[in-house]
Amino acid sequence: MKAAKICDRIWALHADIDSADDRFEGIWPIPNGVSLNSYLIRGEKIALIDLVRDWCGAAANLKAQLADAGLEVASIDYLILNHLEPDHTGWLAEFKAQNPCVEIIATAKGVELVKSFYKITDGLKAVKSGDTLDLGGVTLQFEETPNVHWPETMMTFEPESGTLFSCDAFGSYGKLGKRVFDDEYYAEEHAFFQTESLRYYANIVGSFSTFVKKAIQKVAPLGIKVVAPSHGLIWREKPQVIIDRYLKYAGYMEGPQEKEICVVWGSMYGNTRTALEALLKGIEDERVPFSIHRVPDEDVSFVLADAFKSAGIVIAMPTYEYKMFPPMAYVLDMFERKHVWNRKALRIGSWGWVGGAKKEYEEKVAPLKWTHIEPLEWAGAADEATRAALRERGRELARAVKAG
Ligand code: FEO
Repeated sequence: MKAAKICDRIWALHADIDSADDRFEGIWPIPNGVSLNSYLIRGEKIALIDLVRDWCGAAANLKAQLADAGLEVASIDYLILNHLEPDHTGWLAEFKAQNPCVEIIATAKGVELVKSFYKITDGLKAVKSGDTLDLGGVTLQFEETPNVHWPETMMTFEPESGTLFSCDAFGSYGKLGKRVFDDEYYAEEHAFFQTESLRYYANIVGSFSTFVKKAIQKVAPLGIKVVAPSHGLIWREKPQVIIDRYLKYAGYMEGPQEKEICVVWGSMYGNTRTALEALLKGIEDERVPFSIHRVPDEDVSFVLADAFKSAGIVIAMPTYEYKMFPPMAYVLDMFERKHVWNRKALRIGSWGWVGGAKKEYEEKVAPLKWTHIEPLEWAGAADEATRAALRERGRELARAVKAG
């Protein structure tokens, strides 16, 4: 991969992580890969914005791209770390060993994390909002954007080209290959990145939506012409598309969400699964679109993405040993952690010798501020009357979603 020119003084470097059996943050599957983006700014002095973790050859790849630009690690005068999560800094100790004179720039909290993670104590400089760095012929300015998504995060802006180096904000899963810019992709490919940006947002950033909105308010007046994130596409033709998309995603936390329903189900011997079909017919009667996910088969990463955008949630599960079906307990725990709040929700499910899911479920969802359609439970297999009631419950939920 070669460096991609953003403008005369700014180049994008990236490594594609394409490891089907690896996970992002050790949690989230990346079947379509993910890119680690860094940026090279060339004035009289040279700055590199964001680094990599030595993951699937990313460090060697970065060195090769620097070499292609006629540089080596020791050529970098300033290393700017917008964010200290190790996907962008894991290679820092080695980088510093190869370039002991480099000045490392981060927020004050970022500097503390450099010391804590990498035991580097010299050549550190803390910056705050409004501070600038003159490279000779090109100036960078810094804006603190705390909790997007770690407390130490900042963004870097180059005013002449209007390039915003936004780190995780405006990022996406999905590898890039040789094309890094938004205008190099067809519409159907953009649909893929849109889906993966929502999954990335729901998995990584969703809990911090309030801070995402604040950060966007802060950087919007800068005059952004290029959005250059640390993962995914670089937006030079239509930067407002990804900014608006992130604003929309941030709004999902409190609402409104899309008028859709996310159905999450698990079944031990088919009694809940069979009955769920009646409920789905009720949703279809009202012509409300729905997504459907079986747990534990489907990873919670994908469930979160659909739940995060949907105004309605169905939780269909049997009672298991007097409590909830365990894989569903994990999903609901993740909904709480990732702030899937303010939804219209319906719980259904079968039980064998005795119920019990109700109590645990109600405790689990209490912090989520959900509005509940009356739940429906039954013993064993659902009879005709139960299936009719389930269909009506499906209609009721769908109508509630449509009403907003
Ligand atoms: Fe891409 Fe929060 O690191």
